Amino acid sequence: MTKQWWKESVVYQIYPRSFNDSNGDGIGDIQGITSKLDYLKELGIDVVWLSPVYESPNDDNGYDISHYQKIMNEFGTMADWEEMLEEMHKRDIKLIMDLVVNHTSDEHPWFIESKKSKDNPYRDYYIWRSPQNGHEPNNWESVFSGPAWEYDEQTGEYYLHIFSKKQPDLNWEHQPLREEVYDMMKFWLDKGIDGFRMDVINFISKHPELPDGEQGPKDTFGDGSPYFMNGPRIHEFLHEMNQEVLSNYDVMTVGEMPGVTPEQAIDYTADHRDELNMVFTFEHMDLDSGSGGKWDLKPLQLTDLKDTLAHWQKALESQGWNSLYWNNHDQPRIVSRFGDDGAYRVESAKMLGTCLHMMKGTPYIYQGEEIGMTNVSFASIEDYKDIETLNMYKDKVEEQGQAVEEVMKSIHVKGRDNARTPMQWDASEHGGFTTGTPWLRVNPNYPEINAEAALNDPQSIFYYYQALISLRKQYDIIVYGSFDLIDRDHESLFNYVREYQGEKLLVLNNFTGEEQSYQVPEAFIGKEASLLISNYGHKNVVELGDGFLQPYEARVYKIG
Ligand code: NOJ
Repeated sequence: MTKQWWKESVVYQIYPRSFNDSNGDGIGDIQGITSKLDYLKELGIDVVWLSPVYESPNDDNGYDISHYQKIMNEFGTMADWEEMLEEMHKRDIKLIMDLVVNHTSDEHPWFIESKKSKDNPYRDYYIWRSPQNGHEPNNWESVFSGPAWEYDEQTGEYYLHIFSKKQPDLNWEHQPLREEVYDMMKFWLDKGIDGFRMDVINFISKHPELPDGEQGPKDTFGDGSPYFMNGPRIHEFLHEMNQEVLSNYDVMTVGEMPGVTPEQAIDYTADHRDELNMVFTFEHMDLDSGSGGKWDLKPLQLTDLKDTLAHWQKALESQGWNSLYWNNHDQPRIVSRFGDDGAYRVESAKMLGTCLHMMKGTPYIYQGEEIGMTNVSFASIEDYKDIETLNMYKDKVEEQGQAVEEVMKSIHVKGRDNARTPMQWDASEHGGFTTGTPWLRVNPNYPEINAEAALNDPQSIFYYYQALISLRKQYDIIVYGSFDLIDRDHESLFNYVREYQGEKLLVLNNFTGEEQSYQVPEAFIGKEASLLISNYGHKNVVELGDGFLQPYEARVYKIG
């Protein structure tokens, strides 16, 4: 396994709209980010992943881009962005930008041209099809509810949009489009950025015939995902992108890939494939959903989580690389999801951090995770802003007549705005995020949960994450060691062993609010071990043996 800087890094994700507002308009911005870089430096992260800051009509908060080389007015100017990058590099913080090239905004000049006529030079930048018997060209559903096709009167054809109708899918079969994307990537790389996070990048190759997806008797739509995820030319496109662009720079890449298996991830990330460095899997994020999809709530079975993550750890042990994450701007807050955001908020947030950061892979921290920010339960749909949530609500409540309480419950548990409520900086009004009116309400728990309080408390989650990060810098075993799950069938404990060059780590995590007894592997009994970190106070050096873990307790022992 080759050593690489991005294997040894910890990434921090910033969702700019919700991070820090410097000018009082209620919307986070670039100068707001720059003014918080010392905070990030103190945490100890190496890389920032910045969600889109490009010009956008904000149908999907910047994931609908109308100009790839311009900065969104609400966020500032290119000069602000350049200053931010310079200030990051001064502090040895790298920057990776979001690359959203499965689709653009319908307000992108390419699409405006493409719509004009069937023979417009930009027509083939997008995916247009004639109606089938007066209807959509196939039965696919959009990820944001409703059909994945929109009819355009002017030319009498439909265009494909896997996401909202304001996010038309780009046609990667068309080589001039690919060249434009590569040029755009070079534009940002030449400005000095350190890599890309690639939005739904395994969607860019579609099955050429766009066949109907499987549709159950009660379903309104078919499932098109087998025909747009990991499509026939995906590896060819990513390899081409690598050869034409990425291989000429020392950068890191992470591809967001719904529906990817660990075995497929090897093909995307193994060194000799020259495609990407790592992918974001969704398998562990789908375990608390029923057959009805994300909004169909189902309790997490810890053994499922262990099996899934262990499978990824083992599959990518000697080839490829894992990313490690619990949170991002699309996921509910982890402490509310797999932990306890009530009595054991602090303990469970630290335990979840331990469980993730001691695995093999590059860890990602999402803004606010380091202070244990929680989900939010706004009473009214009026307080929600996310297009996925609003479209789903409309569909389920207004069209299918489902009970408002049920739908609101699923929004409270799974809605994307849980992650997007503004960052809680201090106990002042709106959590110190803005002096104006925030674009999305702040979580009312900000007087208690905020960065200032965390920085003033030596026992805070912030300092625990800081310690996790510094351990990773200190011990190669955390970065490069092998991983083995122990107690596979245990329903409450997520325990594992890491091993590297004669050293071993024993990682113990109690995922419940009750005390649990644990057993150590036989070979460890009686061995002297030092406790690298724990979320409860303990002796530093012990002789290993069976014992008990307190509610949500986590411990990491080093042997040898
Ligand atoms: C994945 C992004 O993370 C999400 O926020 C966005 O809505 C979709 N891709 C579409 O760009």
